[in-house]
Amino acid sequence: MKADMIVGIQWGDEGKGKIVDLMAQNYDVVCRYQGGHNAGHTIWVDGVRYALHLIPSGVLNPKAINIIGNGVVVSAEALIEEMKQFEGLLGRLFVSDKAHMILKHHILIDQAKEKLRGEKAIGTTGRGIGPSYGSKIERSGHRLGELRDTAKLATSLVEFYTENKALFQALDIITPDFVTLKAELDGYADVLLPYLADTTQMVWKFLDEQKRVLLEGAQGTLLDIDHGTYPYVTSSNTISAGACVGLGLSPKDIGKVTGIVKAYCTRVGNGPFPSEDFGDDGVKLRDKGKEFGTSTGRSRRCGWFDAVACRYASRINGCDDLSIMKLDVLDGFPQIKICVAYEINGQRVDTLPEDLENAKPIYEEMPGWESVVGCRKYEDLPQSAKAYLARLEEITGTKIGLISTSPDRNDTIIL
Ligand code: GDP
Ligand code: IMO
Ligand code: MG
Repeated sequence: MKADMIVGIQWGDEGKGKIVDLMAQNYDVVCRYQGGHNAGHTIWVDGVRYALHLIPSGVLNPKAINIIGNGVVVSAEALIEEMKQFEGLLGRLFVSDKAHMILKHHILIDQAKEKLRGEKAIGTTGRGIGPSYGSKIERSGHRLGELRDTAKLATSLVEFYTENKALFQALDIITPDFVTLKAELDGYADVLLPYLADTTQMVWKFLDEQKRVLLEGAQGTLLDIDHGTYPYVTSSNTISAGACVGLGLSPKDIGKVTGIVKAYCTRVGNGPFPSEDFGDDGVKLRDKGKEFGTSTGRSRRCGWFDAVACRYASRINGCDDLSIMKLDVLDGFPQIKICVAYEINGQRVDTLPEDLENAKPIYEEMPGWESVVGCRKYEDLPQSAKAYLARLEEITGTKIGLISTSPDRNDTIIL
């Protein structure tokens, strides 16, 4: 059996949570493979809202096993807090003992460095993501499995704090002493040790047993550390290839890849966004789409569908199809724009350039429609909505497999 995948196509917040939750009804196992609690995946079921940051969005399907893979960076504190929302997680949630920890100093470094960057701030979520992945790559990080010997871990951390005293002083960060640290780590170990596992072996076994495995991406393609809008990106590989590394799978283990994309575009944090709308339409998209961050509450920047970026993302992820989310948010716009190419230094460009900062959008306009909200059948969509979707398919070169018309699980058209 191969594992299927959900991946974000834009700058995150495309609606991955809704689709993973919907699909999880037909899967035995749901796995996160990168990112951390910078992610915020919202799910609405029967009028109740769930916001998930680390726990896979399969948790609302009582039969699904949920796995947090080695590629995720885990704040033990955040995970324990999130686990409190759910009962009976033992035996249903497994966390890789190879996953790196986000420790308190990572969070403080993230926030202090953002302050120092001033106008050039990335606009991180301040959750310690970059510094934790930094420690991992630098080979000074600590993995969750080390919670099995908290005295050794606390000793190692105190040594690290002493060796890097100058850095912590410069950033105004007070580091804990051994006793405080050990007590804190013991608290994490008490809760989390029963959940730790060799998740790679587990996923291999599930696939060998013909179980259906779904991989849940966090963030989006344009935030990928290698292939996104560097340096305004997150610190992990958000593209589909990241799932192999973040779980210990081979490319041959991957089956269908579904790209999740909004019918328009948003970004939270800084960095280039050619199709951003600074006028009334941008405000209208934000208000209608309730575009405020699930993790940080920050308001999201809004603009039009960027077909160039979507084509790029579709290719790099190997998308078999796209799920078009939030089509209802475009209800009532007399005209809808699609960014079909960029203009850079007077030249038309239709691939994603390295210097996206200098790209001006070239738009095509299409007539809008009155309402698609709650629509569950393709036949019931207005003609102009169908024409818009057909144009998106044509211009991105990727077929549409699903259309979402409200946050609710059931307000979905599956093609
Ligand atoms: P994720 O990070 O990709 O899981 O997305 P978020 O949860 O951060 O943001 C997506 C938001 O859009 C959430 O508040 C969802 O409830 C909401 N949403 C998802 N699909 C739709 C839809 O089709 N229509 C509308 N209006 N809202 C949607
Ligand atoms: P989901 O999974 C949207 C953005 C931050 C910032 C940049 C780096 O909900 O789609 P970080 O804290 O990761 O170092 O911040 O990445 N960012 C997201 N934007 N959705 C997310 O996750 C994000 N996770 C990080 O706003 O611009
Ligand atoms: Mg989100």
